Amino acid sequence: MSAMLGLSYIIINSEIPMAVPEKKTAAAPHRSATLAVGDKNLSFPMLDGTEGPSVIDISKLYGESGHFTYDPGFLSTASCESKITFIDGDAGILRYRGYDIDALAEKSDFLEVAYLLLYGELPNAKQKQEFVRTITLHTMVHEQLHFLFRGFPRSSHPMALMVGASASLSAFYHDSLDINVPEQRELSCWRMIAKMPTLAAMAHKYSVGHPFIYPQNDLGFSENFLNMMFATPCEKTKVNPVLARAMDKILILHADHEQNASTSTVRMAASSGANPFACIGAGIASLWGPAHGGANEAVINMLREIGDVKHIPEFIKKVKDKSSGVRLMGFGHRVYKNYDPRAKVLHKTCSEVLAELGKIDEPLLKIAVELERIALSDEYFIERKLYPNVDFYSGIIYRAMGIPSKMFTVLFAVARTVGWVAQWKEMMEDPKNKIGRPRQLYTGARQRAFVPLEKRS
Ligand code: ACO
Repeated sequence: MSAMLGLSYIIINSEIPMAVPEKKTAAAPHRSATLAVGDKNLSFPMLDGTEGPSVIDISKLYGESGHFTYDPGFLSTASCESKITFIDGDAGILRYRGYDIDALAEKSDFLEVAYLLLYGELPNAKQKQEFVRTITLHTMVHEQLHFLFRGFPRSSHPMALMVGASASLSAFYHDSLDINVPEQRELSCWRMIAKMPTLAAMAHKYSVGHPFIYPQNDLGFSENFLNMMFATPCEKTKVNPVLARAMDKILILHADHEQNASTSTVRMAASSGANPFACIGAGIASLWGPAHGGANEAVINMLREIGDVKHIPEFIKKVKDKSSGVRLMGFGHRVYKNYDPRAKVLHKTCSEVLAELGKIDEPLLKIAVELERIALSDEYFIERKLYPNVDFYSGIIYRAMGIPSKMFTVLFAVARTVGWVAQWKEMMEDPKNKIGRPRQLYTGARQRAFVPLEKRS
C-alpha cells in the first residue's frame, strides 16, 4: 500500500522547532514529524500530552497530500484531546484526573469520584454536600416512564430496556436539552448520573415481575441502588453496608476508561449536536456488545464449566491449544499488558464480600484464585502478557450479592454513565469540537452504467 501511494516514511524531527501554532492547544507543538509522500516532504506538528505517547497531528494531511490515513479499530489514532483519564497499559496504571484508581476506590466514594470526573477536582466538604444533595434530588424518574417499561416484554434483556429508557429521557426533560447553555448541560449530567440507577433497578424489577421501588433520599447512592434492586413493598429491608461499600467501589472502578468503544460512541453521537440523553443511549448500545461490557458474564459461565479445582490443568491445556478456540475469560486486555489495576482491587473486594456473606468457601472463587495462580506462572500467559482484567472477579461479587447475570452489563452502564457525561461535557466545552466524520478506503465498484430490469441476468 505504501509503495502504491508513494508514501515512504515518517521522520520524527525532535530538534526542529515548529513555527508558533495558529491556535494554542493544551498540548503545544514543539517538534515535527516529516512524512514523505511521493516527492513531497510534509511536516506535521507533534503534540505532547502531560503523560503518555505524543501524537502526530495529521489533520492537514488530506489538504496537503490528497491522502487519508487508514487505521481500522483506531489502533494508532488519538480521537480527541482529554484531561479526564490516563491509562498506561504496560505499567498497569489507571488514573482519573491524576489520582490512582486504587486510592480512589479505597479512600473515596462514587459521588465524590463523579464530581472529580465532571469538574476536574475532588470536592471540598461543602461542594460534596451540595453535589450529593443535587444528585439525590434527581433520582426519581417521570412516572410516565413506568408505562414505557410496561410496553416491553417481561423477558426483554435489561440492556434493551436501558437503551430505550435512557434515550427516552430526552422526551421528558425539555428544559435541559439546549446543549449550548452550560447550565442545561450540567443539569443533564446530574439527571443522567442520578436516574441511571433508578432505571437499572426498574429494569431488574420489571424482569422478575416485582413492583418498582422508589428511590429513598435518606440512603447513599449505592445503598439506594441496592435497595431499589432488592427491597419489596411487603417488607422493610436494610442494605448491608459492606455490600453497599463494595458496590460503590465497583462503580468507581468502572466509571471511566478514556476513549473506549462506548465513550467514543457517545462522543461521536454528540459531535453532531444530538441531545445528551440520546447520546448516552447510543453509548449503552455499544457497551452491550460481548467484546465490551459482556465479559464478566462469560467468566461466570467458564468457572461453572470448569466446576472443580481439579479440572483446571485440563482446562488450561485446552486454552493453550489454539485449535480449541477456548480462551481464559477475564484474562488479557487490549490496553493492559500488566495486571489490570482494577482487578487487584476487585480481588480484595471479592474476598470481603464473600466473607461478609459467609460464602468464603464459594467454589467459584476457589476455582478463580487457583486459575489465576496457575495462569500467572505459566509461560504461555507470561510470554503474551496476559493478566486478570476487571471482569475476572466482578461477576463472582455480583453473583454473591444475588444480582442476575443479565444485569452485569447494566451495572457497568450505571457506573460508566459518569464517564460518558464527563467526556460529553468536556467535548461540549472544547472550542475545537467538530462533527466526527471519518473517511474510508473505498474498494467497491467503479462507475458503471445503469442496467434496466429487463436486461439484468
Ligand atoms: N486466553 C488465552 N489466550 C489469549 C487470551 C485469553 N484470554 N487473550 C489473548 N490471548 C492470546 C491470543 O491467542 C494471542 O496469542 P498468539 O499471539 O499466540 O496468537 C495473544 O494472546 C494476543 O491476543 P489478541 O487477541 O491479539 O489480543 P487483543 O489485545 O486483541 O485482545 C482481548 C484482548 C480481546 C481482551 C483478549 O485478551 C480476550 O479475548 N480476553 C478474554 C475476554 C475478556 O476477558 N474480555 C474482557 C476485556 S476487559 C473489558 O473489556 C472491560
